[in-house]
Amino acid sequence: MTRRAVPLGTGHYLPARIVPNAEFERSLDTSDEWIRTRSGIERRRFAAEGETTSHMAAQAARAALEHAGIGADAIDGIIVATSTPDLTFPSVATMVQSDLGMTHGFGFDVQAVCAGFVYALATANAMIVSGQAERLLVIGAETFSRIMDWSDRSTCVLFGDGAGALVLGSEAGTGTNADRGILSVDLNSDGRYRDMLYVDGGVSTTGAAGKLRMQGNALFRQAIEKLAATAETALGKIGLSGPDVDWIVPHQANIRIIQGTARKLGLPMERVVVTVQDHGNTSAASIPLALSVAVTDGRIKRGDLVLSEAIGGGLAWGAVVLRW
Ligand code: UT7
Repeated sequence: MTRRAVPLGTGHYLPARIVPNAEFERSLDTSDEWIRTRSGIERRRFAAEGETTSHMAAQAARAALEHAGIGADAIDGIIVATSTPDLTFPSVATMVQSDLGMTHGFGFDVQAVCAGFVYALATANAMIVSGQAERLLVIGAETFSRIMDWSDRSTCVLFGDGAGALVLGSEAGTGTNADRGILSVDLNSDGRYRDMLYVDGGVSTTGAAGKLRMQGNALFRQAIEKLAATAETALGKIGLSGPDVDWIVPHQANIRIIQGTARKLGLPMERVVVTVQDHGNTSAASIPLALSVAVTDGRIKRGDLVLSEAIGGGLAWGAVVLRW
C-alpha cells in the first residue's frame, strides 16, 4: 500500500479593497496600459489597516475546512507559507491555530517566498506519507502591500494581498500515477541569484522589515526556463509529460511567464488557471488562491491531473503534481 496525501477541500480569502491599475496613475509615471500589457494585471486587493496575514490565513482555513466538511478538531497540524508574517515570531501558523480554537497539534511557517506554497505542499506530503500526520492544513498567505516601496513603479504595481488554503488527508493508493493526491514533487534553489529579488531589511541586518527590490527583467528571463524544467522533472518522475496535465495552476506573477511556461510544456492556455488579472502577484498565496477559485467554479474536478509550479526570491523554485 502506498500512502497518499489527498486534497479534501480548498478555500480562500481576499481583502475587500480592490485597487485597479488606474489608481497608480495618480502617483506614479505609469499607465493601466503598461501594467496590463507587461504583466497581465488589471487589479489587485490590498489588506485594510490592521488586517494581518494571520487573519487572512485563518479566514481561508475556515473556508477550506468547511469545503472539506471537517472541523479544526480533525486537523493534526498547520503549515503556513509566508514571507510577510504578522511578527518576526511566533509563526503565523500558531496564530491561525489559536484563531481556529485548536489547542492540539502543531503549526509552523515555511519561507520560500513565491515558491512557498510548493515547498509547504512538499513538506506536508512528506509528513503524511511518512505517517507523522493524517490531516494537515496547508496555507499560503501574504500581505506584500506592507513591503512595497510606493515610489518604485517597477515593483509596487505588481503585488497584492490574499490567502488560500488546502486541507490534505491521508488515503491508501496503489502506487501508480492513477492515484488521487500528491504524486510528485521537485524542489530547487540557487542562492547565487539572491540579488534578483529580495527585501532590503530584516531582523539581523537593519532591524526593520524593509522593502521589496527586484530585477524584474533578469528574473523574467530565468523564470520560464526554470519553471518549465522543474515541471518536466516533476512529471517525468512519474512517467508523465506536459500533455498529460489537465490543469496548470501556476504561480501568478506575470501572464507572459504563465503563457511562456505553458507553451514550453505543450499545453494550451485553455488548460491554465489564470487569476493574475484579478489578484496580482500574491507570492505564496497565489497558487492556493487560484486553486480554490478553479475548484469552486467547477473547472477542476475529481480525478483531474493538476500541475503547480512557482519561482521566487532565493531564487527558489519547484513544482508539484497532484491528482484532484
Ligand atoms: O513572483 C516572483 C517572481 N517574479 C517574477 O517572476 C517577475 C518577473 N518579471 C516580470 O514580470 C517583468 O520583468 C516585469 C513586469 C517586472 C517588467 O516587465 P519587462 O518587460 O521585463 O520590463 P522592463 O523591466 O524591461 O522595463 C521596460 C521599461 C523600462 O523603461 P526603459 O528603461 O526601457 O525606458 C522601465 O523603466 O518599462 C519601464 N517600467 C515601467 N513603465 C511604466 C517599469 N515599470 C513600469 C511601470 N510603468 N510600472
